[in-house]
Amino acid sequence: MESEKPHAVLVPYPAQGHVNPLMQLAKLLHSRGFHITFVYTEYLRDRLVRVKGLGSVQGPPDFRFEAIPDGLPPSDNPDATQRTADVCGSTKKHSVAPFKQLLIRLNSTTDIPRVTCVISDTLMSFTVRVAQELGIFEVQFWTASACGLMGYNQYAELIRRGIVPLKDESDKSNGYLETTLEWIKAMEGLKLKHVPVPCLTTDPEDVLLNFMIEQMENCKISSGLIINTFDELEKEVLSELGSVFPPIYTIGPLHLSARNEPETRANSTMDSTLWKEEAECLEWLDRRDKRSVVYVNFGSIVVTTDETIAEFAWGLRACGFHFLWVLRPDLAMGSSAKLPEGFLEETKGKGLIANWCPQEKVLSHSSVGLFITHAGWNSLSESLAVGVPVLCFPLRAEQPTNSWSVSSVWVNGMEIQHNPKQDAISLLIKEMMIGETGKEKRERAMEWKMKAHEATSEGGSSTASLNRLIDQLIHQVK
Ligand code: UDX
Repeated sequence: MESEKPHAVLVPYPAQGHVNPLMQLAKLLHSRGFHITFVYTEYLRDRLVRVKGLGSVQGPPDFRFEAIPDGLPPSDNPDATQRTADVCGSTKKHSVAPFKQLLIRLNSTTDIPRVTCVISDTLMSFTVRVAQELGIFEVQFWTASACGLMGYNQYAELIRRGIVPLKDESDKSNGYLETTLEWIKAMEGLKLKHVPVPCLTTDPEDVLLNFMIEQMENCKISSGLIINTFDELEKEVLSELGSVFPPIYTIGPLHLSARNEPETRANSTMDSTLWKEEAECLEWLDRRDKRSVVYVNFGSIVVTTDETIAEFAWGLRACGFHFLWVLRPDLAMGSSAKLPEGFLEETKGKGLIANWCPQEKVLSHSSVGLFITHAGWNSLSESLAVGVPVLCFPLRAEQPTNSWSVSSVWVNGMEIQHNPKQDAISLLIKEMMIGETGKEKRERAMEWKMKAHEATSEGGSSTASLNRLIDQLIHQVK
């Protein structure tokens, strides 16, 4: 009976890289018999409605959508999700009371089951106290890597040791960032420059620095922590995190776990893409040879400069391979991303430029030989799941930490240094596409693909962890 179903309320942080895994988990729980309430912030809801040309977001009767205020500007303004500090500050300020009212309202509505659990993105961890106050079981969902979480969890310690905030802006270029964080045993050799970017500030009051410290503390008083990774990939890091965080559920790569579930009765509002996809990318790839294409995509929120875009452009031309470059129009800081003059003419027939593509399908296309990525966690796990090697160009958040793991631990790719020049980019691409190093990286990438599939198959570690999580969400045994 509907009224006896477990009822999960899921709260994503309003950005593409976060709403995707939360939606995957929601669909998965739905297919396991949960009633779902998926809570958008108003910004996210309005943007989805606009992109999809819908009147509203409405799921089936047992998969409902709600929206809470977030204080963000209207969704047709320049992309608000790029300004992480504003989004974090704003949701923390505007969403708490409405979220509490929502839970109270859901629990006084008679035609839906009572809320059994709240699952929220760790960047929306104000939910912990609200749920606890109302006596509702809650768990946090860290949608990025375990190594990224380990990095953020060092912030308080870095301050205690006087390493951050930085003394001066010059610390970013005088070698100071080479300081080794020798106390992190599970990530031997990790340097300050690899730690998630927000702590590299001179301002002790920095919004993101303090926000992340607070999220880590909230997470520690939560009843559980879901991470979109798998045991084999981050064994040592997970073991160290296990001693400071509540019970950890490693259920990744979630997009693979979700595929093993019976098809949920999805409708178009249950697709969380915030851009219009250009499916012709796939037809273009169909016409290319096996592993001949360099795929370039810097995810949903990073921004860079026109100069860097130009270096990548000429680097791509110089290496001579076919390329599919997803160049979000807002990739360039403060302007619309521009390709250098003459580039399109000079690379005619060699490349395809798009605004947004169906990335999972692109990555699993046999023509793709290399992925140049900003090292956002979803992009990395999607490429890992299909065995495509990566060249990382990390720019913000925990991307440098992910990139460090790619180069030093998983060995399925290499890193492009800051302010790269076209010759260096071209050389690296060639090395990865046809060189000996690239061959090794591809072999490692294929090994990780196998391990990711093992983890998410029947009897695998992520499947077992997912079953434990579901059991806990239903029975809530402390
Ligand atoms: C942000 C942070 O920058 C990152 O460090 C953190 O790990 C997650 O949140 P984002 O830029 O959104 O990342 O990148 P990523 O994590 O890779 O997520 C992007 C998602 O959008 C992926 O699921 C990817 O498949 C999808 N995508 C991206 C598309 O479907 N099409 C595209 O053209 C680009």
